[in-house]
Amino acid sequence: MTSLISEIPTVSSKQGLVESLERLVRAYYQQPSPRDATRRRVGVSSAILGPEEAIGVLRTVLSGWITQGQVTAQFEREFAEYIGVKHAIAVNSGSSANLVALAALIEADRLPVGDEVIVPATTFATVAAPLIQLGLVPVYVDVCADTYNLDPQAVEAAISPKTAAIMPVHTVGHPADLSAVLRIAQRHNLCVIEDCCESHGSSLDGRKVGSFGAINTFSFFVAHNMTTGEGGMIVTDDEPLAILCRSLREFGRVDQRDIAQERFYSDGVLNEYDKRYVFQRPGYNVRMTDVAAAMGIEQLRKLDVFNARRRDNAAFYRAALLRSCADVLEPAIERPGAFHTYYTYAMTIRPGAPFTRRQLVDHLESHGIETRPIFAGCLPDQPGFRQAPHRIVGALPVARWIRDWSLFLGVHPGVSDEDRQHVVQTIESFVKAQPG
Ligand SMILES: Cc1ncc(COP(=O)(O)O)c(C=O)c1O
Repeated sequence: MTSLISEIPTVSSKQGLVESLERLVRAYYQQPSPRDATRRRVGVSSAILGPEEAIGVLRTVLSGWITQGQVTAQFEREFAEYIGVKHAIAVNSGSSANLVALAALIEADRLPVGDEVIVPATTFATVAAPLIQLGLVPVYVDVCADTYNLDPQAVEAAISPKTAAIMPVHTVGHPADLSAVLRIAQRHNLCVIEDCCESHGSSLDGRKVGSFGAINTFSFFVAHNMTTGEGGMIVTDDEPLAILCRSLREFGRVDQRDIAQERFYSDGVLNEYDKRYVFQRPGYNVRMTDVAAAMGIEQLRKLDVFNARRRDNAAFYRAALLRSCADVLEPAIERPGAFHTYYTYAMTIRPGAPFTRRQLVDHLESHGIETRPIFAGCLPDQPGFRQAPHRIVGALPVARWIRDWSLFLGVHPGVSDEDRQHVVQTIESFVKAQPG
């Protein structure tokens, strides 16, 4: 580091500064990263950042424009193209993406307030929270034991006269059974909103998730397959919905697209009023900054490479678990036609196993291997959701088994060959030491 600092030249222009900083950043990232050999830690997630992200952020900051602007617009275009949709609207989180997408559907009269939206019981809190916040009713259905995704049969059983939409989540990267969901939706005239917050680049029969539903959402939180630190994206082919989302994400402002040609707005009450301060609806401020978007552009370019490593790590775990622990642990699977991107590696302890999840978790964590449950486990069982408006369909036996017996491990690109070997050996030695 000292040697790098001594290389800082005297810069006399902005261009010179940018070039010098870029050179230093690249040199910094070429150095081997120090690793504490005494403390192995296989985390459940890790942001994989390189000089490209740092340079993108530096360039943005040095440009002087740091809030939502041209860089965000570029990220939106490139993300829409990657998913295969017409419109992408960047926001500050996946939770905000869900909130804004649902608010847009309500304003477009496609989700009547008070109506029901079917969601998987096993999921993250802010799949259902925006529904409750906006006066919709989450209806929790059971999930499939192999993919952790909503079970189409349970969806069918959950339909009521109040059902307005289905919100499949592609849990930890495995695409939900969208062909079944879309069939049910078509038959009952329901809207489909895909929550793709855990499934960047996942696909079904070659088509990317995020391109099936009417409006769909992504998260770029730091743990996810690509990151902007905090961030999210709404994607849709529906232009009126996209226009509504753009307005809702920034205060409810009137459409700003033609502001360069026509700056002023008139409607009989407001006369030649600056469009920047014309508010067409009560909105939010959940914009993405250009600083975050600069990182997103570089992460998107690397996403397929990241996902390839995740899949390789997952295949390694699956082969090992099937070889030596299949009687007690159910490893993650990939159904035919599905392209799983393994946000994490989920597994479930089988009934009759001679150990508890707590014992396995304690063993793994004591060997430097981080674990988590599958998010909320069974969301309606969470303290903040028990009393909130909802409906449950059936006894949710799978979701409740997952709540008590499932866990996930990291398979992110930072998990090295040595790390994954350590994980497998640690699980195998634990299972072997069990009685019976
Ligand atoms: C399925 C799902 N939806 C929504 C979110 C919320 O995303 P964020 O953390 O960016 O708000 C998450 C978070 O991981 C998630 O897993």
